[in-house]
Amino acid sequence: MKGVFITFEGSEGSGKSTQAALIYKYLKEKSRPALHIREPGGVKISEAVRRILLDVRNSQMTKECETLLYMAARAQLVEEKVLPALKQGMVVLCDRFLDSTVAYQGYGNGVDINFIKDIGRMVTQGTVPDLTFLFDIETEKGLERTGQNKDRIELRSLNYHNRVRKGYLKLAQEEPGRIKVIKVNKSKEEIHALVKKDVDALLGW
Ligand SMILES: Nc1ncnc2c1ncn2[C@@H]1O[C@H](COP(=O)(O)OP(=O)(O)O)[C@@H](O)[C@H]1O
Ligand SMILES: [Mg+2]
Repeated sequence: MKGVFITFEGSEGSGKSTQAALIYKYLKEKSRPALHIREPGGVKISEAVRRILLDVRNSQMTKECETLLYMAARAQLVEEKVLPALKQGMVVLCDRFLDSTVAYQGYGNGVDINFIKDIGRMVTQGTVPDLTFLFDIETEKGLERTGQNKDRIELRSLNYHNRVRKGYLKLAQEEPGRIKVIKVNKSKEEIHALVKKDVDALLGW
C-alpha cells in the first residue's frame, strides 16, 4: 500500500478536528492503517512548542518568532511521525499543516509568504499533502464555536481572522487540484459524507 497524506485546514471552529476524527474512525472501521495527528504538536517536542505558542501569557511574541516556532514543531513532527508512517503505507491525517502557517502568519500577520513557503519546504522535506480539505466558515460563526477558553491565536481580532480566511481561499485558488474547499453550512454528518467521498476516491475505493 502507498502512503497517503491528507490535511485538514480552516479557520477557528470550522470543524477540522471533528472531520479528521470522523475520517480516522472510518479508516479504522475499514481496517486501513492510519495515523491521526495535530499541529502544532503530535510528538513530545512539538507538543512542548505548542504550549509556548498557544500560551496567552506569551503576548509579546514577535511574528518572526511565532512563525519559526510553528516551523520547528513541524520539522520534528515530519521527521518523527509523518515520513515514517507514509513509508509504511499508512494514511496520515493531519489536523493543520504548512497551509496554516501561510494563512495565519503570512496572510494574517504579514510575514513574507515566499519566506514561509521556502522554510516550509525545508522543514517538511518537500512533503506535500495528497489532499487538503479547507473548511470555510463565516469567521464570526467559527469563533463563536471555539467557546470561552480561547488560546493566544484565537484571541486575535476579527479583522485578523478574516485575513486568515481570505488567505486560505487564495491558497485554494492557487492549488485547486490539492485543496478542496468545503463550505461549512451543513451538519457534521453531511460534511463527513462529502469528505468521505473525496477520501474514497483518493484511496481508489
Ligand atoms: N457542521 C457542524 N455544525 C455544527 N457544529 C459543528 C459542525 N462541525 C463542528 N461543529 C462543532 O463546532 C465546534 C468546533 O469544531 P472543531 O472540529 O473543534 O473545529 P476546529 O478544529 O476547526 O477548530 C465543536 O464544538 C464541534 O462539535
Ligand atoms: Mg481543532
